[in-house]
Amino acid sequence: MIQLNNVTVYFDNALKSTRVTALDDVSFTINQGDCFAMIGQNGAGKSTAMYCLLGLLKPQKGTVTIDGKEFMLGSSRYNNIGYLPEEPHYADFLTVEEALYFYSGLYNKVVTKKQRDEILGEMGLFDKRFTQLKKCSKGMKQKLGIAQAIITEPDILFLDEPTRGLDPIISRYFKQRLINMKQKGSTIIINSHVLSEVESLANRAVIIDKGKVVVQDELINITNSGEGRYQVEYEGKQAKRPAYLTNSRTTGALVIGSIPEEKLGEFMAFLDKNSLRLHKCDLNRMTLEDSFFNLIKGDNNEPSTEA
Ligand SMILES: Nc1ncnc2c1ncn2[C@@H]1O[C@H](COP(=O)(O)OP(=O)(O)OP(=O)(O)O)[C@@H](O)[C@H]1O
Ligand SMILES: [Mg+2]
Repeated sequence: MIQLNNVTVYFDNALKSTRVTALDDVSFTINQGDCFAMIGQNGAGKSTAMYCLLGLLKPQKGTVTIDGKEFMLGSSRYNNIGYLPEEPHYADFLTVEEALYFYSGLYNKVVTKKQRDEILGEMGLFDKRFTQLKKCSKGMKQKLGIAQAIITEPDILFLDEPTRGLDPIISRYFKQRLINMKQKGSTIIINSHVLSEVESLANRAVIIDKGKVVVQDELINITNSGEGRYQVEYEGKQAKRPAYLTNSRTTGALVIGSIPEEKLGEFMAFLDKNSLRLHKCDLNRMTLEDSFFNLIKGDNNEPSTEA
């Protein structure tokens, strides 16, 4: 279990005497085996939270623990942690193959040439293995970053916007790879702005806004937090329509419309009473994007800067 306990991080600018509070008393918990997503607008504090979780940044207040222990730099725990930074910068005089050899060697685990060749193939980089990084495209470097992060199948994997710059084919392959890793028991922590991707991968999420936690919960609860509606279709063109049926129209003998989730029982009784045959009744869940917009309200202010 990984826990962020009442973490506050601020950055002071001594010259201008200003302070940016990147995280303000943030607490959340990631359970073993979770695919946990951190979501929020630009500047919300997601990458800062990831640095804290990785032990790369010590918060001014609060603690970060993994299995109850504080994370110490240099700890052997790092051998089982993969990390794809937000903007990976690798020594660009290396070739793709050399870089993978060097960076995958940092995990203090045996990584064979076969494993390296396999992952280069999977990431579509095998043909580019002799290309120097300075001659690689942004997406190619991102793929290298992913390859070095997952090659040892770490038990905790941190990914800061992993599919940024990836083509759709590799994105889809990579998503499947993450699902497989999760099934094998890896814990995955992912920062992403691609909410559809989060929805298909994550089981839990935290939404951060201007350095504060807005919500942390199972994804299913976050997407169910608003009012759900059933899309219904029933036979009975001439039939009376209940007052709560909205957006109603008729197609042939069918009445089509939408009812609030809590009116389902009443609607079933209405059908029964009027001997009307139900054709379709689908619950329209909110997407993560809908929930995110409802919770954040789309205001574009940066985190507080205090004089
Ligand atoms: N080294 C730093 N010095 C000063 N301010 C910083 C520093 N790093 C981050 N910040 C500020 O802290 C806040 C949170 O930044 P952070 O990078 O964590 O946001 P984010 O949620 O990852 O955003 P994005 O979606 O754009 O990656 C921002 O206001 C940012 O400007
Ligand atoms: Mg970030």
